[in-house]
Amino acid sequence: MSSGSANAAKRALEAAEARFVANNPLSRKQHELAVGALPGGNTRTLLHTAPFPLTMKQGKGAYVWDEDGHKYLDLVGELTAGLYGHSNPIIRETILSTFDSVGLSLGSTTVQEHKHAALLCSRFKLERVRMANTGTEANMHALAGARHFTSRRKIIVFSGGYHGAVFSFPNGKPAANTVDRDDFVVVPRYNDTELAVSTIKSTVDLAAVLVEPMQGAGGCIPGTREFLHAIQDAAHEVGALFMLDEVMTSRLAPHGLGVELGLKPDLVTMGKYLGGGLAFGAFGGREEVMAVYDPRLEGSLAHSGTFNNNTLVMCIGFEALSRVFTEEACVELNEKGDRLRESLKHVTKGTKIMFTGRGSLIGVHFVDACVETITCGEDIQATERRDLRDLFWFEMLEQGFWTTRRGFVALIMETEESELVGFVAAVEKFVERHREIMAL
Ligand SMILES: Cc1ncc(COP(=O)(O)O)c(C=O)c1O
Repeated sequence: MSSGSANAAKRALEAAEARFVANNPLSRKQHELAVGALPGGNTRTLLHTAPFPLTMKQGKGAYVWDEDGHKYLDLVGELTAGLYGHSNPIIRETILSTFDSVGLSLGSTTVQEHKHAALLCSRFKLERVRMANTGTEANMHALAGARHFTSRRKIIVFSGGYHGAVFSFPNGKPAANTVDRDDFVVVPRYNDTELAVSTIKSTVDLAAVLVEPMQGAGGCIPGTREFLHAIQDAAHEVGALFMLDEVMTSRLAPHGLGVELGLKPDLVTMGKYLGGGLAFGAFGGREEVMAVYDPRLEGSLAHSGTFNNNTLVMCIGFEALSRVFTEEACVELNEKGDRLRESLKHVTKGTKIMFTGRGSLIGVHFVDACVETITCGEDIQATERRDLRDLFWFEMLEQGFWTTRRGFVALIMETEESELVGFVAAVEKFVERHREIMAL
């Protein structure tokens, strides 16, 4: 990077941040109030952005509005959970009718939980499923189940893997708040088949291999078919379970990404949009493995959770998956995402922006050197340009596009193709406006 270009980037970023501060006095005021009750003014670390986060006031259709009255096309899509957008009439009707005709907390098993479970089983090719409240919980219960089934402890995961609030593995290590840290063996590169297989074969007491078929929080990096099949086979060879974390990726193909890739995981974890917009998680898979949670059997594991079968979540989740995000709608949305990614690549060719992902999920990366393909986070670690990523975020906001600061786009169903054309045009203008800074 030339010092001229670095200085120009620094000036552009400072100017963009100054405009952000000037344009968002009410968000700033809200942040100053919030720090009085919440550490850092926040209850979800990802949503904190310096110098202060934007406070959103309302969402309608494919748009959100902030406290200062700016309107944005919602490209955050609640990190994949907001798939249905903000105004789906079927979801609205289900919320009202469930309240009126079922009630919220019956303290019993219900027909609704069986209906949603049966739908999840048939849609995602699972023999049995259980519900939880979040994707984190789904992984926690699934890991406990894998350990119980195998009577082993160790779990292999991958650098850049994210399996929930207390299961994350940035830079090849369990994060400081990861639970059972000593039980995880982290393979230092995702998509490195040889390294993964040798680690699986040499790990003693291995209960399971847990992997995302596309790393989501790790930067929307798809796993190759060869890599995923090789680790599935190696896990089975050593008597360990193969666990697929589809919390983000189940929306990428009609039966989930694992089925699309021909994988046969022993356990699958899911969540996000499958609660129709409310808190949700689920884990399921082979009947024999899931039987560790069958209370009719001696020595089975307890699976507790007051809200596991909350009627509102069960009803919305069921109606949304069966009537809104149908198999056809899934294909259509992901094709729209593929077209968007191709257009973005086209208008940014030869620049420092790279787009990764699959279907309706897109990773946005800024790199200083030409990288052919990104196979894992380590491929770009040394050349990443966080300053350009921040500049992009500030300037997309100014153009009316709500994206995550970390560079992640999750399409929602209510977004029209014409609105995405507007986003592509804004990105094209961004690289033109900053031609000197953005050229490779
Ligand atoms: C792959 C993956 N697993 C698990 C989780 C955790 O889900 P939740 O935030 O619902 O706990 C996430 C959340 O982003 C995820 O992306």
